[in-house]
Amino acid sequence: MAEIITSKETLVEVLNQAGSMPAPREVLMVTPDHFSVDYVINPHMEGNVGTVNKKKARWQWEVIRNKFRLLGLRVHELQGEPGFPDMVFSANQSMPYIDPDGHKFALMSIMHSGHRKEEVPYFEQWYRQHGYGICYLDEDNITDFEGMGDAIWHFRKRILWGGYGYRSSPKAYEEISRTLDVPVVQLELIHPSFYHLDTCFCMLNEESVLIYPKAFTPDGLELIHTAFPLVIEAPEKEAQELFACNASCPDGKNVIIQKGCREVNKALKENGFAFHEVDTGEFLKSGGSVFCMKLMLW
Ligand code: ARG
Repeated sequence: MAEIITSKETLVEVLNQAGSMPAPREVLMVTPDHFSVDYVINPHMEGNVGTVNKKKARWQWEVIRNKFRLLGLRVHELQGEPGFPDMVFSANQSMPYIDPDGHKFALMSIMHSGHRKEEVPYFEQWYRQHGYGICYLDEDNITDFEGMGDAIWHFRKRILWGGYGYRSSPKAYEEISRTLDVPVVQLELIHPSFYHLDTCFCMLNEESVLIYPKAFTPDGLELIHTAFPLVIEAPEKEAQELFACNASCPDGKNVIIQKGCREVNKALKENGFAFHEVDTGEFLKSGGSVFCMKLMLW
């Protein structure tokens, strides 16, 4: 049965009843060999076509990869493909999950932009080579779903947070909820600069989240505050220009974040998190940062 959560009361019930899920200990990153800004499909890309410094991008990418390694995660690398400048944003092409019996699956995305549709088969092939079951959404019924850019697992709980409005449709979450048998908390995105849920909502741990409030409706904010006793709000400049909310906290304690997010880092520190700054400047030109440059895996 599909369970889409849009009310505070049901959310409280679902949070109390949700089964547990292990924290992912692996990530998949796509090498930036062919990363560039060649077209404009989000507001951050405007004015940046042709401006990526490839050497710098490679170096920034390696620092991020090493940070994940230092935090104890196993990093898999998939070779970037020519003709797919956005393939490096590996959070978008799929959504992996592990069922209660420990079987690993991946749900393949339906990319919103025509420029990115053909990235998906490369991920499917990788999953097949690594023993994952593959699931597809019904393309006759669903127009778009951009994987973990919009669908974020609650830390260690069998609950999915699903953003919609720009790159994914609410219909996708009905099917996901039914197929995976998990409740989905739906959040409408209303600010074009925050076009994926992972640009304005960073899961820190079971009880904490970092958000940019203006990206959400009042109803969405109510759901977020219902689920998380600690909600850290990123100021506009850090959220918009530095993509503070596209940070990644893989273990519920250490946060890898674009450098310069001073207010967010102060709040993280005050609340017991450790922050690790990296420079994602070349990737910000394309509207992405730490979170979307990797895919969390089991
Ligand atoms: N240029 C890419 C796009 O617009 C950036 C994707 C960033 N991914 C993310 N999950 N925020 O599709």
